[in-house]
Amino acid sequence: HLRPPPASQMEEVSLLRGSNCRAKGAAPGFKVAILGASGGIGQPLALLMKMNPLVSLLHLYDVVNTPGVTADISHMNTGAVVRGFLGQPQLENALTGMDLVIIPAGIPRKPGMTRDDLFKINAGIVRTLCEGVAKFCPKAIVNVISNPVNSTVPIAAEVFKKAGTYDPKRLLGVTTLDVVRANTFVGEVLGLDPRDVNVPVIGGHAGVTILPLLSQVNPPCSFTSEEISYLTTHIQNGGTEVVEAKAGAGSATLSMAYAAAKFADACLRGLHGDAGVVECSYVASQVTELPFFASKVRLGRCGIEEILSLGPLNEFERAGLEKAKKELAESIQKGVAFINK
Ligand code: NAD
Ligand code: LMR
Repeated sequence: HLRPPPASQMEEVSLLRGSNCRAKGAAPGFKVAILGASGGIGQPLALLMKMNPLVSLLHLYDVVNTPGVTADISHMNTGAVVRGFLGQPQLENALTGMDLVIIPAGIPRKPGMTRDDLFKINAGIVRTLCEGVAKFCPKAIVNVISNPVNSTVPIAAEVFKKAGTYDPKRLLGVTTLDVVRANTFVGEVLGLDPRDVNVPVIGGHAGVTILPLLSQVNPPCSFTSEEISYLTTHIQNGGTEVVEAKAGAGSATLSMAYAAAKFADACLRGLHGDAGVVECSYVASQVTELPFFASKVRLGRCGIEEILSLGPLNEFERAGLEKAKKELAESIQKGVAFINK
């Protein structure tokens, strides 16, 4: 009787020929690490990344529970090999050689909290993990999910600057859930399949900084002022609606894992050399006077290849942009000051 070995020991089991390799004939793939892999987002995201044919090696890192999550995910008969890493001493091995690092580590909101209320705890978590990235995989593309994204991306940038590894093309804040929500809600209002709808969402990822450009929806369409007001509020408050519905049990995890997997897949397709990969993301930017801003970016072999212009905004959107910029400027400054204090 052979007992299955724990997933973390798989590579040491001589009975299993090639258990640590991709299947013969599989296309070469990318190495992806998820930091915070045991969490509400981390687990379903690990599941989705294990299913992505562009991934050859999936590293799951957390400070708790990764042996169990890794053992579970490793039984999926998909191409990616999975390894688990537990706690700070294993961060080096978790990160070494990675092409893409996805960071959903950190605490989520409870009802009554803003995303900025998470800063106190999550800023330090993101700093530590990014210090690891700078040391052990400085060339990796980094996707930051941990909130408040408007501040955690500037924090990551400052950590990389200090370490001398900063490349703005490789640091991306994940705002895909705002686009996913916008596509869904606009699809519902227009009676369209949400998969056929594309709404650019610019600015940042909190309250009024989430700015859907309803004048630029694809396929082209028009809305009444009532619809614009309903949609803008629904998209800006989508996260809070989920936090309230979960009533203390956290924030969006499943839709977020879907959005993060969609964005990671776009980054990998870019690295792979696919043409025309465009997603909205919160990045170092010159499209406004702010140092960071979310807008459409084209992804390629080096990460961000091009930041697309905002296009024409209507009066309502221009007013929204001014409000968004004011709050964004403060959140960016708070993140920068946290590292340079
Ligand atoms: P969660 O509490 O369920 O999971 C977080 C995980 O992070 C836990 O497993 C925890 O052990 C781990 N963790 C904590 N400190 C760590 C460290 N130093 N190193 C590695 N792992 C660590 O929370 P969740 O629901 O998965 O949310 C995670 C974060 O994502 C929150 O900050 C939340 O606000 C944010 N979020 C962002 C978006 C977005 O659109 N960008 C959407 C949803 C949630
Ligand atoms: C979201 O938009 O769902 C996330 O940012 C989580 C939250 O706190 O709202």
